[in-house]
Amino acid sequence: MPVHLDHTVIPAHDKAASAEFLARILGLQVGTDPFGYFSPLELGNNVIIEFADAEDFYWHHYAFLVSEEEFDAAFARITGAGLDYHAGPLGGKGEIYFHSGGRGVYFDDPNGHHMEIVTVPSSKIGPDTRIRTGPFGPARGN
Ligand SMILES: [Fe+2]
Repeated sequence: MPVHLDHTVIPAHDKAASAEFLARILGLQVGTDPFGYFSPLELGNNVIIEFADAEDFYWHHYAFLVSEEEFDAAFARITGAGLDYHAGPLGGKGEIYFHSGGRGVYFDDPNGHHMEIVTVPSSKIGPDTRIRTGPFGPARGN
């Protein structure tokens, strides 16, 4: 059997608020933890991300694969919430990126974790992939 990610823990200053934030952006529901320790979100591929209260941690990066329609909806929630967004982790403020006929964008959660939504799996990125940045719009055939 191939290996699949089952769950991971994301440190947060406020686990409930952090789970609610990401659930709102991604259109998910916060679950319940039978042990009461985590604020969990279950993703479409059954991976569970579990927010846990913590004080000292460095930012993490998480990328979520979504459909083009889900990207549009999530992007509308990002801009509706007045969040900054970027085409890349270090720049491209106010832009998204395009590659392989898909799109992606970065935004930060309340903990400073760098979240990303993307419509093409990163496994499709190869040495010939051309990544372009620009204003929000539909996916391009690049
Ligand atoms: Fe990424």
